[in-house]
Amino acid sequence: MHETLILTDEEVRKLLSMPEVLNVVEEAFREKALNRVQMPPKIYLFYKKYDGDLRVMPSYLEELDISAVKIVNVHPQNRQRFELPTVMAIVVLVDPKTGFPLSIMGGSWLTAMRTGAAGGIAAKYLAREDSEVICFIGAGTQAKTQLMALSNVLRNIKRIQVYDLVKEASKSFVEYALTVLKDIKVKVCESPRDAVSSADVIVTATPSRQPIVMSEWVSNGAHFNCIGADAPGKQEIDPKILLRSKIVVDDMEQALHSGEVNVPIAKGMLKKEQIYGELGEIVAGIKRGRESRDEITVFVSTGLSIQDAVAAKLAYDKALSRGFGVRLKIVIAS
Ligand SMILES: NC(=O)c1ccc[n+]([C@@H]2O[C@H](COP(=O)([O-])OP(=O)(O)OC[C@H]3O[C@@H](n4cnc5c(N)ncnc54)[C@H](O)[C@@H]3O)[C@@H](O)[C@H]2O)c1
Repeated sequence: MHETLILTDEEVRKLLSMPEVLNVVEEAFREKALNRVQMPPKIYLFYKKYDGDLRVMPSYLEELDISAVKIVNVHPQNRQRFELPTVMAIVVLVDPKTGFPLSIMGGSWLTAMRTGAAGGIAAKYLAREDSEVICFIGAGTQAKTQLMALSNVLRNIKRIQVYDLVKEASKSFVEYALTVLKDIKVKVCESPRDAVSSADVIVTATPSRQPIVMSEWVSNGAHFNCIGADAPGKQEIDPKILLRSKIVVDDMEQALHSGEVNVPIAKGMLKKEQIYGELGEIVAGIKRGRESRDEITVFVSTGLSIQDAVAAKLAYDKALSRGFGVRLKIVIAS
């Protein structure tokens, strides 16, 4: 009794499947729109001398009775300098009734899965159903789970175009893409412009602090999943694209200070009133998603603690039923 279940990243990877994560993340967005979640905006520590940061992300989904706290870093130089991932995380799943830590689990793969799922849900409501060409700017961990989720919600994908500053990353992404979707064409592009050309869905997943995708390359009807900008000062797309688009954020407060809109808003190029709404409002049927073939839609993802909490609960329940993990008496129960 009163033992905490310890799960490694590798175990969490085996436990979480994308269709299941898509379901629970969609439910979490609905709960948010129905005002049944507590989720203070994430707290940041900036390790400026090391080009990295650390975030603390708590939440409670009241109706589902799920609560968790994640700590997660973003260190873009890690891969080259230390052979460590850019993003690493730990999630503590808490029993809301007693506050007891039910589980401590690796949250790195979980983060990639729940971020992929948010992109998948956004595409389900905002991208054209018949989207065929998917562009990836940045071909790292998040790009892979974005593709995994998109392949579950868009049934007509025919072509993948990828651009990454590091050619090896693009090549490894292409190998991965061919395991996810068998009958597709893939292209490693020499420039972001080449990758964006004729794309129906554009996923940006880099740690960039300046626009990489320019407005004149983007056709009407495109959908963007802007994933990389998740801290103040980060941006990946030309603000002129935002001015042509229906902008949907995951959370208004977080998006204003750290999402793709944060720099244009700080510079006075975009106003809060020009943001259409939150993804949850569309999922809950409060607002409409895509309304015409021609509109450009942009999903601004900052990453929400409620996504982590529901994914962690899913992993925990599956771990219990499949006998995964190690149980430890971390907390003194008497
Ligand atoms: N929105 C969310 O919920 C969420 C969740 C996790 C991570 N992120 C963010 O997503 C970004 C990517 O994370 P990751 O885990 O995939 O990192 P990663 O290091 O695995 O991949 C990033 C890739 O982007 C490439 N890149 C960097 N600058 C580029 C540029 N200017 N043009 C093209 N390619 C470029 C790198 O070479 C690398 O391959 C980070 O900024 C991270 O903070 C967001």
